[in-house]
Amino acid sequence: MVLITRRIPEPGMKLLRGKCRLRLWNRDEPMPEKILRKKIRGVDGVLCLLTDKLTREMMQAAGPRLKVISTMAVGFDNIDVKEATRRGIFVGNTPGVLTEATADLTWALMLALARKIPQGDRIMRQGKFTGWSPTLLLGADFFGRTLGIVGMGRIGRAVARRAQGFGMRIIYHDSRRLAASEERVVGARYVSLQELIRRSDFITLHCPLTRETWHLIGGKELAMMKPGAYLLNVSRGPVVDEKALVRALQRKQIAGAGLDVYEHEPRLAPGLAKLDNVLLAPHLGSASFETRNKMAVMAAQNLLCGLAGKIPPWAVNPEAKKHRGS
Ligand code: DGY
Repeated sequence: MVLITRRIPEPGMKLLRGKCRLRLWNRDEPMPEKILRKKIRGVDGVLCLLTDKLTREMMQAAGPRLKVISTMAVGFDNIDVKEATRRGIFVGNTPGVLTEATADLTWALMLALARKIPQGDRIMRQGKFTGWSPTLLLGADFFGRTLGIVGMGRIGRAVARRAQGFGMRIIYHDSRRLAASEERVVGARYVSLQELIRRSDFITLHCPLTRETWHLIGGKELAMMKPGAYLLNVSRGPVVDEKALVRALQRKQIAGAGLDVYEHEPRLAPGLAKLDNVLLAPHLGSASFETRNKMAVMAAQNLLCGLAGKIPPWAVNPEAKKHRGS
């Protein structure tokens, strides 16, 4: 028996039908924790989403049959991987296929924010456009400005490649520095986090959420940013201290922020939605038809492999195999 915590795109569902018995949550909303705890009981595998918390307690509630947790996401901070490994449970994710879509969304946010597209759209719809004006909705240039990328993994590098086309200077910070040849390809220079924060006109976050990156950008870091700089977060909400961000935006300490993810998703920090210098997207990083279809297929393949006792093709803990049956 397999639990699917939400209907996934059809190509993924198609792979699963007839291969295993499915227990499917058929509503288009995240499964509440209480229901997940009930439905997970006795299953052999779980296909979950980033909205489901697969904690030690949840694995305990599932019982000893659980062999695989497959998440339809690249980020897996919602899963206690260490505990899964200890229990011999494979964890699979969907890396690679969402890189370009997420980089596109980052740029969509960055452009719309700095060129005030949502404000322009509102003016048009409200019939307030009275003709071309030399001072209407002036925004920021990209050409010649500095882009600071925090987290130079697949998505960070895809964002950098696009920035080259915009004629930007690119600096980056990561816990692991790229090889010189890789730096040349993306045209980016490695700097400390402090230097990146101080020098960037646009800061974009693409690191995973870990103990080290929790509140990586807080009040102190926001105060270090240039007054005309923008902050983009398309990684995970808790990487930014959202309350501190609201304060910084209210005081116009920075020019603006573009967010696709939130610290207490789907809730927003008080005051955030009232601000005009922030652009808010509902976690759309990978939301293109092609990308979500591919993610669903990969998640289904990971699940099927794990159920068969084999290491899933995109396992984040292949070492779980050693713990199986122990
Ligand atoms: C992921 O896969 O981790 C993304 O956040 C989904 O859009």
